[in-house]
Amino acid sequence: MNFKTTLISVLFITLSIPINAQEVPLQKTSLVGNRIVEFIPKGFDKSKTPSLILASEPKSKGKVPLDWTLIPEFRFQNNKAGAVLNLQGNISLYGGGEVTGPLLRNGQSIKLWNTDTGAYSVEGGKRLYQTHPWVMGVRPDGSAFGIIFDSTWKAELITNSDQIIYNSEGALFRVYLIDRESPQEVIKGLSELTGTIKLPPRWALGYHQCRFSYDSEKRVMEIADTFREKKIPCDVIWMDIDYMQGYRVFTFDSIRFSNPKRLNDNLHKKGFRAVYMIDPGVKVDKDYDVYQSGSQNGVWVMKNNGEEYHGKVWPGDCVFPDFTDPKTRNWWGGLYKDFLNTGIDGVWNDMNEPAVNDNDFPEDKRLGTMPYDTPHKGGGNLPQGPHLLYHNAYGRLMVEASYNGILKTNPDKRPFLLTRSNLLGGQRYAATWTGDNYAGWDHLKLSVPMSLTLGLSGQPFNGPDIGGFLGNTDGDLWANWLSFGAFMPFARGHACAGTNDKEPWAYGAAIEKTSRIALERRYRLLPYLYTLFYESSKTGLPVMAPVFFADSKNSSLRDEEQAFLLGENLLVVPSFAKKPKLPSGIWEELNLIEGEQNDKYQAKLKIKGGSIIPAGKVIQNAGENSFDPLSLYVCLNEKNTAKGELYLDAGDGFGFEKGDYALVTFAAERKNDTVLVKVAKTEGKRNSSAEIQKINVNLLLNGKIYIGSGTLKKGITVTLK
Ligand code: NOJ
Repeated sequence: MNFKTTLISVLFITLSIPINAQEVPLQKTSLVGNRIVEFIPKGFDKSKTPSLILASEPKSKGKVPLDWTLIPEFRFQNNKAGAVLNLQGNISLYGGGEVTGPLLRNGQSIKLWNTDTGAYSVEGGKRLYQTHPWVMGVRPDGSAFGIIFDSTWKAELITNSDQIIYNSEGALFRVYLIDRESPQEVIKGLSELTGTIKLPPRWALGYHQCRFSYDSEKRVMEIADTFREKKIPCDVIWMDIDYMQGYRVFTFDSIRFSNPKRLNDNLHKKGFRAVYMIDPGVKVDKDYDVYQSGSQNGVWVMKNNGEEYHGKVWPGDCVFPDFTDPKTRNWWGGLYKDFLNTGIDGVWNDMNEPAVNDNDFPEDKRLGTMPYDTPHKGGGNLPQGPHLLYHNAYGRLMVEASYNGILKTNPDKRPFLLTRSNLLGGQRYAATWTGDNYAGWDHLKLSVPMSLTLGLSGQPFNGPDIGGFLGNTDGDLWANWLSFGAFMPFARGHACAGTNDKEPWAYGAAIEKTSRIALERRYRLLPYLYTLFYESSKTGLPVMAPVFFADSKNSSLRDEEQAFLLGENLLVVPSFAKKPKLPSGIWEELNLIEGEQNDKYQAKLKIKGGSIIPAGKVIQNAGENSFDPLSLYVCLNEKNTAKGELYLDAGDGFGFEKGDYALVTFAAERKNDTVLVKVAKTEGKRNSSAEIQKINVNLLLNGKIYIGSGTLKKGITVTLK
């Protein structure tokens, strides 16, 4: 820090510390990564605020760069730690993870206290299911910075245009600041600290059909059969709580789901996968083996008086595993073995804020979760601590336990886990969805900035309940929502108990056709989408990105939240979008399915000049052969060149980690009236030529399409005549 910046900081400290707050000096600052600085306040104690956010303990890489300007100020107010970052200039703010409201977060505040919030109604939508103490700022010149408040204590995050304020209700914590040349580089920095998603199995990128609940084996098969009969692509059918015996987790209803192995086998035969729900609450029932085993192993959260903590969830009185203890996480992981051996492909962890139904308490006593002073044991690196410290990490610790248990049961398969509650960094274990939205236009529109913000907060694998969960959905709303929802990273239709049927065919023939087209478009794009997920698993970059990522210097794009990017090269403009602000340059319209242009609901797709997008043929599930032929959509830039990547591997398992994959870079160049498209580079040991026998090129130029075909080895020539 030089003299000038010190002076400025001192000046700001005096201005920003509230009257009754006590300033806490810095104890240590060090460089812990490429333009990533760690700030430790004096008095910080890991045994009071352990890190559950970082993927590993950062190592000092030297001194803070001399030109570093971003310095947080720590403070104590009534024994509660907080921090402030003063902002200079006109900064666009983003992040905060799962939030309602606009993409551009200037002038917003959120409460970090994970909560079951149907229709996002609690505290006016400021408090949701997850905690992401993370904000990114983008400067007018397109450079950017990000700040992590490394704490899980109950807190509030305020993003004023001149200050980012984080007020916790607990002990001091560390802060990490990343300052880089672009928002993309800052997001990469975030993933260097908090990790990335693991590459999901390819089937998880297909369409998912869910309902609370398809409540019998027969109904599940009816749904699956209807998808195939109607030729509407789908990969996954979901089992919500009603498959269980009296809502006891890890059990199956003896009448309606009497033979889960048979059901899962039958789904597999038809090219479907089966995902089943598991909640954290375990029914208090002396005759129930999970309760018995948990009690014998001492895994439950206990009250200060030494008794089991009981809270009501679906099955009535429940106990809750204390996931802060590694022994408990291990025990929980072990429960998945017999369960998954029935042929279950994926797991859905729900209600893990944890949500407790205390509606029979007087209103002023209702917490919707455990009392704040309920103790958690800790163990390993985690200290003993109150619920106030661990509440926001409960879901995150649960999914760590689930993930490890699933992987241990099936070490040759990539786990697929979805969670409702999570914490910044929790993308390392689970994908997420945005909880209980409702079937209305405001939540349809909100689903875009919500997903974008999660993507800007380290969680690329996310999406809303398409169609809206609560309330009845009409055909118009469904068709509008699915037509862009089909391009969101996690694409699942879901519906609450007591609402109308919400499958693609539930609204009559015309909407069924719209739904088929929307999903066929997604399935054609699976090769591109899978490539994006592969890249995201390496870099942490979002799969679904805000439009301003196309040009972070253009400040007029900063608040665009109707249109969005899929990767860098594809723009999705939903049909509801009014006057979307789109990036300049060459963007050609991309059409993938016959009839889509005459369908008023379909989103417009635009491919960026200079890019090549790989697409497959229409398939009914992600396991089918997509590359007969492979299509390449090519759009040249001003220099008459284009480039794009295709990632392929076995679609599941871990062979790719040992080189069994191919990352093919295609390049196109125009010379006079011909464009040559060829392989510029291949990475990995997989024989892509064996998989891709034939390639069709569609070259998009000034609204016209030029066609060519060829092979990987020989390349493809397109004549512009
Ligand atoms: C709450 C979840 O948010 C919802 O998606 C699910 O259907 C219900 N729990 C029932 O399990």
